Amino acid sequence: MGTPLKKKLPKNPLEVTIAGLKFKNPVMTASGTFGYGAEFVPYTDLEKLGAIVVKGLSLYPRQGNPGPRIVETPCGMLNAIGLQNVGVDEFIEKKLPLLKGVKTHVIANIFGETIEDYMEVAKRLDRVKGVSALEINISCPNVKKGGIVFGTDPQEAFRVVSAIRKSTRLPLITKLSPNVTDIKVMVKAAEDAGTDAISLINTLTGMVIDVEKRRPVLATATGGLSGPAIRPVAVRMVWQAASVARVPLIGMGGIMNAEDALEFIIAGAAAVQVGTASFIDPDAAAKVVVGLEEYAQRHCVSMKELAGSLKLA
Ligand SMILES: Cc1cc2nc3c(=O)[nH]c(=O)nc-3n(C[C@H](O)[C@H](O)[C@H](O)COP(=O)(O)O)c2cc1C
Repeated sequence: MGTPLKKKLPKNPLEVTIAGLKFKNPVMTASGTFGYGAEFVPYTDLEKLGAIVVKGLSLYPRQGNPGPRIVETPCGMLNAIGLQNVGVDEFIEKKLPLLKGVKTHVIANIFGETIEDYMEVAKRLDRVKGVSALEINISCPNVKKGGIVFGTDPQEAFRVVSAIRKSTRLPLITKLSPNVTDIKVMVKAAEDAGTDAISLINTLTGMVIDVEKRRPVLATATGGLSGPAIRPVAVRMVWQAASVARVPLIGMGGIMNAEDALEFIIAGAAAVQVGTASFIDPDAAAKVVVGLEEYAQRHCVSMKELAGSLKLA
């Protein structure tokens, strides 16, 4: 008997397949924290990324909320940008051409205030080249239904995702809100509606008060908390989602480096997104790729093998 053969590292250990798309690595940028990609060209190599997820797009341009709309918090930030964006048509005309020249996937994050809005944005993106998939932000109030948030009601989530499913041939990634009691119910609703993948988590609702003025710091009183402060919550939710999900998961929430990203992958995510970290270091997502490469070599393990490999006993 000879010595046992040493396990060989697969050829592309970082490559992952999600929703029928092959990604060179599992690291994406999180929507709203990386503009439309172009803003980051001077600071990072976009081609190093597995995918670029652009700022949430609506049917018409939006100004967003009045300021102050960002405040720093312990280990994070609270934002109430109000989904400011150029609108889907200007995105296609002015922002997408640059991205088409970049050798990576572009994922368009979309939102609306009614199901019809979501469907129309999805339809317009369906006809253009250069968009690989849609990420549906369901953390929006349905104005027709009295402001009920799509992402916190499983029936509403089902309705909006199934409507979008009928409006486009593009792969769909449904982005879940953490502001729910049981994330597993939302996973099932999105899957039943035909989503191809699920990303989580969006920001957690928070509030900061200026005690001298006895006023909320943000003009909108509450905002979305992101950054390292939310990471343990996000990792727990990915792990819970993974216990029921049939489709691949994309995890995010406070990822600052490769070690943080690995937590999500081991918990059950096929890929990750880097958000708030890009405000501190615009090259953060590309650095996560380098760190994952080193880990894959050191442990002789591919990202596919690592996903969901958490040991509980
Ligand atoms: C300033 C800002 C703007 C954001 N805009 C969007 C958006 O347009 N659409 C969306 O789905 N998520 C948006 N998000 C949420 C992020 O994509 C991400 O889910 C969240 O920030 C958690 O990840 P992080 O802690 O790594 O930032 C935004 C987050 C921040 C901080």
